[in-house]
Amino acid sequence: MGKTKQKYPSNGYFGIGILNAENEQNIGTLWRSAYILGASFIFTIGAKYKKQSTDVVKAWSKIPLYYYSDFEDFYSHVPHDCKVVAVEMDERAGDIIEYEHPDRCIYLLGCESIGLGGKVMDRCHDKIFLPGHYSLNVAVAGSVVMYDRYSKIGGVLPKKET
Ligand SMILES: C[S@@+](CC[C@H](N)C(=O)[O-])C[C@H]1O[C@@H](n2cnc3c(N)ncnc32)[C@H](O)[C@@H]1O
Repeated sequence: MGKTKQKYPSNGYFGIGILNAENEQNIGTLWRSAYILGASFIFTIGAKYKKQSTDVVKAWSKIPLYYYSDFEDFYSHVPHDCKVVAVEMDERAGDIIEYEHPDRCIYLLGCESIGLGGKVMDRCHDKIFLPGHYSLNVAVAGSVVMYDRYSKIGGVLPKKET
């Protein structure tokens, strides 16, 4: 069989989700940004959420929405050669301004009250923080990360529906 000559528009993908999210509106807002900014999938860990009113684009109907029961469940389903990137205000994290986003990765955000926690951070391949002395809303933080990725390496945005 000959080699495929097909060229793909992108050399990578990313997913984004929240560990033990507490506020349903934040989840919907993150899903909406994720779809608009080119995520390949979205997920929640620790809680099953149905559609959210803040997700006006109905991201769940256009890209896969996965549920994982806990961090171990999530971690055991990370795709081959895909980095898990912790997004957290943490002394071990590097400044997103200098961060080179991997072609294939999953951005993991923490819950509104306690964030990601040290044990989860330890398991993540990369760790990044965003500028500021106070923590951002989790959906805002995720949206900034996705914009940063798009501004640095581009990606495939969904076509506008007519
Ligand atoms: C509201 S914050 C959690 C704050 C929590 N009270 C704490 O002090 O750890 C929720 C999530 O948003 C993300 N986040 C917010 N601000 C951030 C920042 N400046 N850098 C990186 N992640 C941030 C992280 O994923 C965080 O776990």
